[in-house]
Amino acid sequence: MSGVLSDLELLALADAASKRAYAPYSEFHVGCAVLARDGRVVEGVNVENAAYPLGVCAERTAFARAVSEGYRPGDFVIAAITASPCGGCRQWLLEMGVERVVFRNGGRVVTMSPSELLPESFEAADLP
Ligand code: THU
Repeated sequence: MSGVLSDLELLALADAASKRAYAPYSEFHVGCAVLARDGRVVEGVNVENAAYPLGVCAERTAFARAVSEGYRPGDFVIAAITASPCGGCRQWLLEMGVERVVFRNGGRVVTMSPSELLPESFEAADLP
C-alpha cells in the first residue's frame, strides 16, 4: 500500500492487521503498521508459541519483515500500534528511528516519540 496516510489511517491499518494475529494463549491480538518514507506500509502481528517466551510482538514482526525486505533504520516515519508498546518494543522503535509512534492506550490514542517512550535509553553509541 502506498500514498500519504494520516496517523489515524495508519492506526486503522494496524487495527485491521490485528485480526490476523496468532495469539491463542493470551487472546490479546495486536497489530502494527509502519509507514516507510517511500510511502509503503509494512504490517505485523503478534505471533505466539506454546513455549510462551518465544512469542514475538507485532512491532518486532513488522520491523523484522521490513528489514528483511531491504528497509533500514531511518527509513520509517510512523509506527501505529493497537496497544501500548512493551518495553522491549520501545527499544526496537528507538533503533528503527521512527519519527513518531501512535498507539491505543485505555481508549485513548497517544502519539509520542521513541525517546519519550524510552528516556535515558541504551543506544549503539554506548557500545565499546
Ligand atoms: N504484545 C505485542 O504484540 N506488542 C506489545 O508491545 C505488547 C504485547 C503481545 C505479546 C503477546 O503476544 C500479547 O501481546 C500479550 O502480551
